[in-house]
Amino acid sequence: MSRIPFVDLGSQYRRLKSAIDARIETVLDHGRYVMGPEVDEFERRLGDFVGAQTIGCSSGTDALLLGLMTHEVGPGDAVFLPAFTFPATAEVVLLLRAEPVFVEVDRRTFNIDPDDLEQRVERVEREGRLRARAVIPVDLFGLPADHLRIAQVAERHDLAVIDDAAQALGARTPEGKVGSLAPLTATSFFPAKPLGCYGDGGAVFTTDPELAARIRSLRVHGQGSEKYELARIGINGRLDTLQAAILLAKLDVFPDELRAREELAGRYDRDLAEAVTVPSRIEGVASAWAQYSILVEKREPVLESLRDAGIPFGIYYPMPLHLQAPYRSAGQGPGSLPVTEYLCEHILSLPMHPYLAPETAREVAEAVCVGTRRS
Ligand SMILES: Cc1ncc(COP(=O)(O)O)c(C=O)c1O
Repeated sequence: MSRIPFVDLGSQYRRLKSAIDARIETVLDHGRYVMGPEVDEFERRLGDFVGAQTIGCSSGTDALLLGLMTHEVGPGDAVFLPAFTFPATAEVVLLLRAEPVFVEVDRRTFNIDPDDLEQRVERVEREGRLRARAVIPVDLFGLPADHLRIAQVAERHDLAVIDDAAQALGARTPEGKVGSLAPLTATSFFPAKPLGCYGDGGAVFTTDPELAARIRSLRVHGQGSEKYELARIGINGRLDTLQAAILLAKLDVFPDELRAREELAGRYDRDLAEAVTVPSRIEGVASAWAQYSILVEKREPVLESLRDAGIPFGIYYPMPLHLQAPYRSAGQGPGSLPVTEYLCEHILSLPMHPYLAPETAREVAEAVCVGTRRS
């Protein structure tokens, strides 16, 4: 293992060991492993934190799937989403036999460009082959997308909005916290996420009680008001009690961890702003800093310098979805999303977690700067 972890779950566990162990022991004692009391408690606590009803589920991918299923998205429907994202954002669209329509992203925020979104929606409406049904903006690397403008486009064209906030739980805008910024939001508790469990987990957020009831039904096989009465076709999409118990212990320190991430981002900004393009800041918006991602003109020498210094890094994402084999037929080929394609060639993510010491941050930044001076 690298001397400097990219994400340091070990330090977090050492800090929270007694709380996490006690929570796990309680579950082992009561034995209600599926939909046990910790799931309810976690949904209540996280709901208070976010400011929306919270429905725990089996993963971020299933949270997105549940969001689309709630709106009965299916064959003949167009779902608009960025190609600069993790595959799950598009995968769920194809699983429901709907069609993804890739939208360009903003070069500064890396998030979906609302103007391009509207143009592509209008094109689909003009062509008439598909029905424009939904948009999945992604709050990439923890930075909220432009939800105000996306909501305006959605309103004009009657689109459902499902925010993919897998990376952005804990982020804030002047309008509220991520989870309360769109009619439906999906998040992930994958271990490396800002709030991570010890396996797979996710949640759907909504402020609409009707949508919340449908999602609760969909996550348990489409259950109706009685246990074996079915109201619709659903999935097995529950959050495990053990994962909810672990998340409850981690939720206690989550605000403190978000502050530590923000501090680290500020340190990187100060040390790197002259050498590379550091992440954009938006007035009044706080990122959850799932990743600290920079743009470098010549990436290979910087990667080489990081490797020489034993510093781990990530490239999210080396290839956009519209150029990946399973999605090629939905896209329009190389050159069709120039900003997205540029970002894939120049993006670079540095170690980011709440337990990274200031001197380590300095070392990381120094290795990046050395790399930019190599030709
Ligand atoms: C943007 C995005 N969407 C969806 C997902 C899927 O989440 P999960 O791995 O919990 O299914 C991820 C996880 O990496 C993600 O980063």
